[in-house]
Amino acid sequence: MTAVLPLISLRSVCKTYRADGVAVVAVRNVSFDINQGEILAVMGPSGSGKSTLMNMIGLLDLPSEGAIHLEGANVASLSEDRRSSLRARSIGFVFQSYNLLARHNAIENVALPLVYCGIGRKERLRRAEQSLEVVGMLRRATHFPRQLSGGEQQRIAIARALITSPLLVLADEPTGALDSRTGAEILALFAALNRTGQTIVMITHDPGIATQCRRIIRLHDGELVGDETQVPVLPKRGVAS
Ligand SMILES: Nc1ncnc2c1ncn2[C@@H]1O[C@H](COP(=O)(O)OP(=O)(O)OP(=O)(O)O)[C@@H](O)[C@H]1O
Ligand SMILES: [Mg+2]
Repeated sequence: MTAVLPLISLRSVCKTYRADGVAVVAVRNVSFDINQGEILAVMGPSGSGKSTLMNMIGLLDLPSEGAIHLEGANVASLSEDRRSSLRARSIGFVFQSYNLLARHNAIENVALPLVYCGIGRKERLRRAEQSLEVVGMLRRATHFPRQLSGGEQQRIAIARALITSPLLVLADEPTGALDSRTGAEILALFAALNRTGQTIVMITHDPGIATQCRRIIRLHDGELVGDETQVPVLPKRGVAS
């Protein structure tokens, strides 16, 4: 039997921030693998290192010690240019604050990552329409962020994250700014995307969110204190619902 390479592996990963002569150890000696097709929640109290870990998994930052491999390649050995282009093609980011461009309408926001992949405008818009359809927002394609609710803006942000067909979607508190019902709808969307094979890592400090993920990684003071697999409570809905 051939061993399946993990999508991402972390080995003894540490991150220390140094500012004004003070060293803050944000992540300590963390090791785990993320396999293709997984949906996992990273949980932990405020300041436990969740965003720091996400920034390293998302190739936005490098470990101070230890190693991260993406599909077998040590990310620290890549040039900064190579790492940036790998990030643009391989990782889709979703944030609590949506981070949509206010002067651009929904379809332009969704199409934006393809500009960095050198894809022409017509093809960009065609793919943005597809991505909007997946999140149930095609009818709002020409609306601007200010015309959309928080939940709708987050769907647009998810469509933008999906447009490059990324290996991994990384979401940092994707429901943090939403009321519980809208948050549940966004979670149902992630769960449905995962059922189509999309690998998703979701950071949260809401225990309710974690019930929809097969796996929960727990951090405390930068250390990995739990890695549990459970039967997820999956919503019975389509992708766009
Ligand atoms: N750029 C930085 N410079 C110095 N210290 C930092 C920096 N970024 C984060 N930290 C520190 O690292 C630790 C972990 O921060 P991190 O943002 O990863 O936590 P978190 O789990 O995401 O918290 P929250 O739930 O509040 O978002 C904290 O003590 C924080 O103050
Ligand atoms: Mg954080």
